Amino acid sequence: MNRSVREPAKRPTLASMTDTTGTTDFKTNPITLNDGHEIPQLGLGVWELSPEDAYSSVRAAITAGARHIDTAAIYGNEKDVGRAVADAIADGEVTREDLYITTKLWNSDQGFDSAKKAIETSLGNLGLDYVDLYLIHWPSAHEERYVDSWKALIDLRTAGKTRSIGVANFYPEVLDAITEATGVVPAINQIELHPGLSQRAQRADDSKRGIVTQSWTPLGRGLLDHPVIAGIAETHGVTPAQVIIRWHLQQGIVVFPRSSKPERVRENLDVDGFELTTADIDAITALDDDETAAGRVGADPRDTPEN
Ligand SMILES: NC(=O)c1ccc[n+]([C@@H]2O[C@H](COP(=O)([O-])OP(=O)(O)OC[C@H]3O[C@@H](n4cnc5c(N)ncnc54)[C@H](OP(=O)(O)O)[C@@H]3O)[C@@H](O)[C@H]2O)c1
Repeated sequence: MNRSVREPAKRPTLASMTDTTGTTDFKTNPITLNDGHEIPQLGLGVWELSPEDAYSSVRAAITAGARHIDTAAIYGNEKDVGRAVADAIADGEVTREDLYITTKLWNSDQGFDSAKKAIETSLGNLGLDYVDLYLIHWPSAHEERYVDSWKALIDLRTAGKTRSIGVANFYPEVLDAITEATGVVPAINQIELHPGLSQRAQRADDSKRGIVTQSWTPLGRGLLDHPVIAGIAETHGVTPAQVIIRWHLQQGIVVFPRSSKPERVRENLDVDGFELTTADIDAITALDDDETAAGRVGADPRDTPEN
């Protein structure tokens, strides 16, 4: 039988659109932002890492092929990320242009002038002339502060201090506020997103606006032992963490899991050799409605910090 004649054409699935051949290297797979810049889809996060662990995890990640590092002023390890980047460049592993470095404006620095000062401190800590992405870390409780911060970020992009600008933990009303005040739509919205909190509504809202969604706490909490995740991992002969990371990647989400352990940093980046089926993705997404999955593990941004 001529299969190509007898079988109806398959509609592309999200999985097959991202990786039909199984050869996509997600560490360098570029996602194009609404400002024309590209972001590597899979990287490393460094929240809560000690100076020593931040240094060794960033070095391990770069050596394993990662190019995208996500830090923040409040993580207190920008200097260590900067040292690791400088050493990787000095050792000839990468150039600055190969790397994609994100940092974030902390709540207490929100405001027009203070945001401009804060990025200088971050750049000094990182030892860089520019970052690739600068984010407002949380919407402030006071609209005028995050609108002023957003106006500062627009200037900082023009001044070349950051290539792209975006936000974290923003929801439709606060996205409306900054966009209506300036006409500039963020390139990124970084939100809590994992199988216990699939964020279908916010992802759809981001997408409608032309914003790329990034996941924070992508592995969730307690999900690595969940029987649905463990079962899919066993089927594919991979680890539960690798299954969850593929779940993000195959949906076009930008993701940067964190580990203090170099072997886990490498494991989390080694996700190119298998592909989740649409049924796998749907089963994992359904955990959102499952009482046995954790749900939200961080603060709800609608309960904004009072600053
Ligand atoms: N914008 C925001 O408000 C915000 C908030 C939170 C996070 N973030 C960003 O998102 C990044 C990722 O989120 P996250 O750090 O909260 O959590 P995560 O990456 O989802 O999970 C990190 C935890 O999982 C463990 N882990 C990592 N890889 C593992 C593996 N292969 N097997 C078993 N356990 C593993 C780590 O322990 P070990 O260290 O022991 O391996 C750590 O306890 C952060 O680092 C940060 O860059 C942003």
